[in-house]
Parts: sequence; structure tokens; C-alpha cells
Amino acid sequence: MSLHAPVVTPRDRAAIKAQRPRCIWLTGLSGAGKSTLANALEVQLNRQGLHTSLLDGDNLRQGLCRGLGMDAESRKENIRRIAEVARLMVDAGLIVIVAAISPFRADRDAARQLFPQGGFLEVYVSTPFEVCAERDPKGLYREARAGRIKHFTGLDSPYEAPLEPDCAINTAEVELAQACERLLALLQS
Ligand code: ADX
Repeated sequence: MSLHAPVVTPRDRAAIKAQRPRCIWLTGLSGAGKSTLANALEVQLNRQGLHTSLLDGDNLRQGLCRGLGMDAESRKENIRRIAEVARLMVDAGLIVIVAAISPFRADRDAARQLFPQGGFLEVYVSTPFEVCAERDPKGLYREARAGRIKHFTGLDSPYEAPLEPDCAINTAEVELAQACERLLALLQS
């Protein structure tokens, strides 16, 4: 089926916003600090008068992605939906920040394909498993280790680290403000 060609293009929309719409995609383990970093980045962008949106895996699983599980197929569909929405928002002129575990390389690569060259920036929040499990902000690692949560990322479900991320940040070693600066610099590149 052929698509309707839009009359007002993404370029037209971006022009009146005076910003470069892009998707900045944060991937990493549960508890790695993706949401914290994503929120801190959005605050800074907002203060600069830039138009943003934040798509957080945890939140989307209560709406757009409600009903999806944690098995590989469900995660693939979760990431596909998030990426499609991010693309629509980028086309609308926004700087879109995604925070989702997105554990599979193929699913992240498929997401990247939706965007024009340079329109998708992959940020690996590389905080090590041991640190995430120690932080355990939602008590999920404890639950998973007790066998009460299945397909838990890093335990009985794999995490495939990006091979060539646009940026990697270990939140156990880098202060939040500094991490945020690095993402702002990345967005200016
Ligand atoms: S993703 O793998 O499909 O990208 P997403 O980022 O949307 O995951 O959601 C991950 C969140 O779901 C985690 O932050 C955690 O709060 C919760 N969660 C529940 N079950 C699991 C699980 N088995 N593995 C990882 N996270 C889980």
C-alpha cells in the first residue's frame, strides 16, 4: 500500500521550532540510571527552550505497551512501538528522549533504521550488573533472584550491549550533572 506524501514535511516543522529534532535512545540494565539521566537531560533541554518528549519504558508499559510481557517477542514489540512513536514525534519536530532497557541489538538497530542519518543517537548506560543489582531501586533484582520474576534482564534474560554506541556512561563513575553535560554535547554534535 502506498503512503500519502505529507505536504508539510518534517523539515518544515523543524524549521519553525528552530531546533534539530532527533531521538536520543538510552539503553541499559534495570537500575542503570536511564530514567534519572533522561529526566535530568530533559530538564536542561527544556530550560534552553527546546521542545522535547520523554518516552520511558516503565511508563509506556502502563499505556501504549500495556499487556506486553518480558519474553523476547514481547520486548521486541515493545521496542518497535516505542521506536515508531519516537519517529512520529521526531517528524513532528521534537527532541525525543527514550529510556528503555531495549536489551536486544537487533531491536535497537531496527529502531535506528526508522530515522534519517544522524537522527538516532544510541546512549549505552553501562552501569555494571553488580551495581544495578546492589542499587535495586524497585526491589526487582531481589524478586528475580528469588524466582518470583521470570525473564529478568541480566539474570535469565540476556542484555546485548551496544557495539558502537554514540556515547557510553557508567553512572557508578560519572556524576549526574557531568553525564548530562555529555549528552547535551552529543546533541550539539
Ligand atoms: S524492555 O526490555 O522491553 O525495553 P522496558 O524498559 O520497557 O523493558 O521496561 C523495563 C522495566 O520493567 C524495568 O525498569 C522494570 O521496572 C520492569 N520489569 C518488570 N519485569 C522485568 C524483567 N523481567 N526484566 C526487566 N525489567 C522488568
